[in-house]
Amino acid sequence: MSGNSHEGGPRHVAVIMDGNGRWAQQRGRPRLLGHRAGAKRVREIVEACPDLGVDYLTIFAFSTENWKRTQEEVSGLMSLFRRYIQSEAQTLLEQGTRVRFIGDRLRLDAKLRRLMDSLEAMTAHNTRCNLTIALNYGGRDEVARATKRLAHDVADGKLDPDAICDETLPRYLDTCVLPDPDLVIRTSGEARISNFLLWQSAYAEYEFVDTLWPDFDRAAFAAVLRRYGSRERRFGGVLSA
Ligand code: IPE
Ligand code: IPE
Ligand code: MG
Repeated sequence: MSGNSHEGGPRHVAVIMDGNGRWAQQRGRPRLLGHRAGAKRVREIVEACPDLGVDYLTIFAFSTENWKRTQEEVSGLMSLFRRYIQSEAQTLLEQGTRVRFIGDRLRLDAKLRRLMDSLEAMTAHNTRCNLTIALNYGGRDEVARATKRLAHDVADGKLDPDAICDETLPRYLDTCVLPDPDLVIRTSGEARISNFLLWQSAYAEYEFVDTLWPDFDRAAFAAVLRRYGSRERRFGGVLSA
């Protein structure tokens, strides 16, 4: 962990990157073009993190519900993910970014899974910034998978049911090695969570911005981080004098 957070800034920022489809639609172009433009922004925002004091960036790339889209859009997104990993791997490695994936990998094709595994392994020693990509991720699905593993540990006698507390389940979540997000940003004007980091965001601050994801640049990101700095987090307590 690099621990280079700026005073008062969020250490872990999670982003629901929404609005790629509408961005393309506004230009009379296919939705996939919006996803490609969105991928370019990912590069810019990841690069900006160390300078802005963000140690952890978690981005929502594909939800467990996104399989409902047309086969054309889903397969276009999957090939975009493969190409993103192939084209960005070297840059991520050189800029000191450690990459992790969260979500259920089992439904992803073997080639994409291999690329994900190798990017994680390749960047495992990086400490400058932590990028987590949520791919085939759903908060409820994650809790269900975690609960299944927890139940197996109980059945195998490795976990005492009476010892279960609010710190037990997070150890089974995909995010077990990550701190909870301090700030969750959603672009495109929608004010909903769409099944993202449900457990982990219990005390996160939320920022809903109207900008569509392909237009969300470094300056827009920095502005949202500044607003966070003026918020007052209480965690159920009262203001200290
Ligand atoms: C977010 O953009 C990217 C993914 C969900 C993969 P959308 O594709 O949801 O864009 P809109 O919401 O239709 O504009
Ligand atoms: C959430 O966006 C998922 C991602 C950004 C990957 P969606 O566009 O899928 O969410 P809804 O359908 O508007 O809730
Ligand atoms: Mg959307």
